[in-house]
Amino acid sequence: MKREPLKGEMMSEKMISASAPAKIIIFGEHFVVYGAHALAAAIDRYITVTASHNTSDEFFVYGRLVRADHIFNAIDRITKGRHVKLIARSQVPNGAGLGSSAALSLASTIAVSKLFNIKPDPSLLFEVSMNAEKYIHGNPSGVDVATSLYGGFVLFKKDELIKVSSPIIKFLIVDSRQRRKTGNLVSKVKNFMDRNPELFNSLVNLADLMAKEGAAAISEEKIEQVASYMNVSQSFLELIGASTPKIDTIISSLKGKVLGAKITGAGGGGCIIAIPMTGSMPKIGYTVNAGVVGAYQLNYGIPISWHFDG
Ligand code: MEV
Repeated sequence: MKREPLKGEMMSEKMISASAPAKIIIFGEHFVVYGAHALAAAIDRYITVTASHNTSDEFFVYGRLVRADHIFNAIDRITKGRHVKLIARSQVPNGAGLGSSAALSLASTIAVSKLFNIKPDPSLLFEVSMNAEKYIHGNPSGVDVATSLYGGFVLFKKDELIKVSSPIIKFLIVDSRQRRKTGNLVSKVKNFMDRNPELFNSLVNLADLMAKEGAAAISEEKIEQVASYMNVSQSFLELIGASTPKIDTIISSLKGKVLGAKITGAGGGGCIIAIPMTGSMPKIGYTVNAGVVGAYQLNYGIPISWHFDG
């Protein structure tokens, strides 16, 4: 079906689009900031950015002009002062733990590098997108950008990424509709660490082990083990202050219908991921496919077909 042009699309000549997938973190959020491994997966919800040459830097989201200084500052490494117009469309809620800001930075970086005919080098795409992330999150581990870029299931540690071989796995996502900033949650967890250094260090070690064993369980399709680790992981996240009463209530309401459930991403609200019991589908939330290809493969290889939610 022909799409109506969004505001700002009319003047441009050469227009290049790139998409990047959202992500879920199955094990290890927060602890990954302190050196633990995290297990994450790209999911089939995307942000697409269309780039074109322009007389000033402009960023439109669904026809609305918004500020995106963090992105323009980062992509300057590619644009070298030349101006671009970026138009974003998203299937990913903001501030909900699904990596919307990483996917937005990555889709923008890829669209702009294609616009300027820059050779697609994954390490350059990672670095530029990470610089955008650093402007807004302070000290991100890189798990969000790496997962969106490389796709599939990834066992990630700062400066290290291992692809985990697994078929696509369906996860239930329940959105608490509580919105928050990742940086605030990372600071809250740091306060917990400063007050409880020994306990926190033990949790980092356990979270690291769980991510590694969880990765092996995923690749051997031992879903019940993955789910039970998810429940343990949620209790760690509650302990360090990343959960909320609303999240706890949603997780309790899923008991008897799911094998495992936990926050995904920074917490403080946002989304819950869960593995439904066979034959039971809770009436809340929606399912996503985890383990889809990442932005790099997507934009320099396999095309996706678009659909919009709501
Ligand atoms: C956010 O998706 C994941 C956190 O661990 C922060 C990070 O790794 O940068 C909370």
